[in-house]
Amino acid sequence: MSSPVVARPKPCLVNVKPGRTYFWCSCGRSAKQPFCDGSHKGTGFAPIEFTAGAQDEELLLCGCKHTRSGPFCDGAHTNLPGGSPLDDPLSPQNRDIPVVTERDGPRALLNGSCYVFSPRLAAMQPRGSLRYCYMVSAEMGSLYQAQLLMEVSGATSPVMSLGSCDVILFVGAGAGTVTISGRAFPVKATDGVYIRPSEAIQLSADVGQTLKVFVLACPLGEITWLDEMLTNFDSQYGQRVVPVDPDQRTAMGPRYFQVLVDKRIGSKVITQFIGHIPRSKAAPHRHLYEEAIIVLSGEGYMWTEEKKARVAAGDVIFLPRKQLHSLEATSADGIDVVGVICPGDNPSINYYD
Ligand code: FES
Repeated sequence: MSSPVVARPKPCLVNVKPGRTYFWCSCGRSAKQPFCDGSHKGTGFAPIEFTAGAQDEELLLCGCKHTRSGPFCDGAHTNLPGGSPLDDPLSPQNRDIPVVTERDGPRALLNGSCYVFSPRLAAMQPRGSLRYCYMVSAEMGSLYQAQLLMEVSGATSPVMSLGSCDVILFVGAGAGTVTISGRAFPVKATDGVYIRPSEAIQLSADVGQTLKVFVLACPLGEITWLDEMLTNFDSQYGQRVVPVDPDQRTAMGPRYFQVLVDKRIGSKVITQFIGHIPRSKAAPHRHLYEEAIIVLSGEGYMWTEEKKARVAAGDVIFLPRKQLHSLEATSADGIDVVGVICPGDNPSINYYD
């Protein structure tokens, strides 16, 4: 059996009827992509039959035929020759796109409810040794997640909870301890941390350090301050800290990422990853998940249909589901980012119009 034909180097977004059965073309020869029209006869390929789930309305079916999760796109198209196309930021069309001037406090407002949040322009709320601000919330347009920035130095922070949410932390700077319902975990910059629903959280920085932590809660949640530490640590999920490990990187064309917190340690609806984007501008694309991206280093622009906003280290980009966008890295060394996708488990799945 030879290789399948690349019918199109990107997935197909299809509307499906819950409970209905479909036949996905695996050979790439069908004229009715992404579905089978019988053209596989004699090729050794066979269509893959699948039934849309009760909640399914839109699915991303593989168009490149190189997925290992047929019929669904698994991001394999981003590693094909010609996959993950780039865009010219100096094309005549792009030159007409202005740098955004609309702001709402620390937020530069792009198309849809996409924005770039600059914490250096935000008012941090004090609570004991803790300072914090919301960067993603329902009021700012999020449907699936809340995100906060927290900084603690000196004494330990108050004890807090985000109720029934799954919570993921990213340690942006410093070293210290995250205590989860009585269990203490040493952490350092670039670690990802997972906290189960209903567990309590307390942060403390090592002597002479400021611990800077990005806090993500899904579904949308708000902080509840507790009088004392809880003891409901969920021992079924004992691994809570995921460090950066270059051996765990996944290539995505010229980009790469490493998944930090995900379903492997218990987080079923949110996936956190750390990644690198070389100097380039990705072709405009969309995702079926909501995404928040923390810029760790470098500079560039976040582009939407008719606007672009400057991004720099420390900024957080909020992307609603299906928002057309493109992140451009202008620094010679590119941009390092941490992202959280929700709901979703594979940050390499994108689609193009
Ligand atoms: S289109 Fe084939 S893996 Fe995405």
